[in-house]
Amino acid sequence: MDFIVTPGGQPAGEVQVPGDKSISHRAVLLGAIARGDTRISGLLEGEDVLRTVEAFRAMGVEIHREGPGLLQIRGVGRSGLQAPASGDLDLGNSGTAMRLLAGLLAGQRFDSTLRGDASLSRRPMGRVCTPLGEMGAEISATEDGCPPLRIRGGQTLRGIRHHAVVASAQVKSALLLAGLYASGRTCVREPAASRDHTERMLQGFGVRVESVDGATCLRGGQELRGTRLEVPGDISSAAFFLVGAAISPGARLRLPGVGVNPTRTGILHLLERMGARIERSNPRLAGGEPVADLLVEGGELQGIHVAPEEVPGSIDEFPALLVAAAFARGETRVRGARELRVKESDRLAVMAEGLRRAGIFVEEQEDGILVRGGSFSGAEIDSHGDHRIAMAFAVAGWRAAGAIRVRDTANVATSFPGFVATARGAGLGIQEHTA
Ligand code: S3P
Repeated sequence: MDFIVTPGGQPAGEVQVPGDKSISHRAVLLGAIARGDTRISGLLEGEDVLRTVEAFRAMGVEIHREGPGLLQIRGVGRSGLQAPASGDLDLGNSGTAMRLLAGLLAGQRFDSTLRGDASLSRRPMGRVCTPLGEMGAEISATEDGCPPLRIRGGQTLRGIRHHAVVASAQVKSALLLAGLYASGRTCVREPAASRDHTERMLQGFGVRVESVDGATCLRGGQELRGTRLEVPGDISSAAFFLVGAAISPGARLRLPGVGVNPTRTGILHLLERMGARIERSNPRLAGGEPVADLLVEGGELQGIHVAPEEVPGSIDEFPALLVAAAFARGETRVRGARELRVKESDRLAVMAEGLRRAGIFVEEQEDGILVRGGSFSGAEIDSHGDHRIAMAFAVAGWRAAGAIRVRDTANVATSFPGFVATARGAGLGIQEHTA
């Protein structure tokens, strides 16, 4: 699949972004191992989350879809999962599903194997396998530390104190989930705060999570109680439209019901620093998460410096942010962002390649990037199968000087099903083309 975007027009009206991907995975996972029923509304029905749903069905959990974004899960309790019939769980493109499930399955009585597509099969898993091994888990990966992961069930786990070198919510979550099955207390300390959806949601399911000397901790053996959950709109999906509007002087776009958890709002602060106007209104809570309506107004942007400590709070938004940088006056520098190299693609390299193709000056560094704002020409861009790269270059079409063709866009369905229709509704001249 390719996108073809005709330049021009202006973002206007209202965009309803789909449910948050991180929160949706966690809602399904915790609902499955809770006692009693869990009802989820606003679930993201993207391919990644559907892989998580299918994984739990394969482990004997009854999950009923009652309407768009509405799931009823018959929780089986902490020890009620069954061995998947085929032994293998295919998690497609989803790093979150793989890392969180690695933690959860390390504590089960049965063996399992986790695999993924070509992109996921290149992603590092040592960051979860090593600390899980310290807890007593038996997990093997390839020689390079990549999937498939073979997990040996029936191990006795013990709580550890883990001091993570990189801030990663996936690692933190994997260890906390394994910690539910471990003796004693499991604690994770991070160099910077990563998203805290797991901690918030565990508490919604009745689990005590504590903060001890700056680490996030829980005691093993706690049971989860089924609950009702409303999933907020995904700020990472909103980011493409925030950027599309921010780079378009005179644009005014409303995005209702977006999750504004402070561990995720880096993109709002960075765009505001570039000169964008973003207004939040109607603040409320949904499923223990802060939500607000956003109104963004476009204007002339200027380049900024993004410091290493600002990276975790906007980790998934760099493809979009770097597109904004390409339309801004002056230079944008990002440092301390080596993690971007191990996402669905090497996002530093793939963004550098795409921006250069559009005539933008870019300097790629080992752990960052410099983008000099300039004139963005029409171009043919290879997304390398990365959903966020594809959407970032699509919204550049609003201001590019010529048509943008983005190649290999099918994976947009992993996080934003209906992106093309939504973008068209907001005024983008986008067509989908089967290559
Ligand atoms: C996620 C955490 C982030 C993010 C990913 C989703 C999560 O990864 O990039 O898209 O749901 O926990 P890391 O925690 O590995 O940085």
